[in-house]
Amino acid sequence: MNQDEMKRAVAMAAVDMIRPKLEKNSVIGVGTGSTANCFIDALAACRNDFAGAVASSEATAERLRRHNIEVFDLNSVSELEFYIDGADEFDPHFNLIKGGGGALTREKIVAAVAKTFICIVDESKQVDVLGNFPLPVEVIPMARSYVGRQLAGLDGQPVYRQGFVTDNGNIILDLHSVDILDPKTFERHLNNIVGVVTNGLFANRSADVILMGTPQGVVTLQ
Ligand code: 5RP
Repeated sequence: MNQDEMKRAVAMAAVDMIRPKLEKNSVIGVGTGSTANCFIDALAACRNDFAGAVASSEATAERLRRHNIEVFDLNSVSELEFYIDGADEFDPHFNLIKGGGGALTREKIVAAVAKTFICIVDESKQVDVLGNFPLPVEVIPMARSYVGRQLAGLDGQPVYRQGFVTDNGNIILDLHSVDILDPKTFERHLNNIVGVVTNGLFANRSADVILMGTPQGVVTLQ
């Protein structure tokens, strides 16, 4: 299997995993990115088995609607059984770096509400220590320089994602060259910098299940 085939295979595996547990009134959370897009396409086959989805981005909402899957506002939903999303890196403890697509804040909110977070990835995302992939940090625009200086003080190199505005109207600083040895503490530390909306570390709410695509097939880690 090549990388695209692995993405489609984990997407199908995620649908197979949740389908028996879906009820007519179930609402699920759906992430953002190319692997999440494969999941949405696979999910369309069972759109009549559940009520609809909460989207983690405008792009995901649009794709869900194109498949006639109803999109709910998170505030109108009391519980989400599942959240299904990709990741940019995952470590042996299921801590993640997310936000390569810039949707990290809404992704983190939807993941926080969900009972079970199923992360769908190909094997290229597996690492021992997080931090090779630049860590996205969503920042209020007027705080860009201040937050940049604070991030530079952490031994990393913050890079402004030029021309990119999040769905929330903010900017992204990508933090390069940090070895994230204690992801939970680092996540909290970054969130304490004034002007940071959130960061792409999913450690305090990590994944519950990882479906990893390999050339030989899908491996379930839990
Ligand atoms: C978007 C994300 C994505 O889940 C992450 O970037 C992985 O994307 P892809 O499935 O395209 O590799 O966090 O904000």
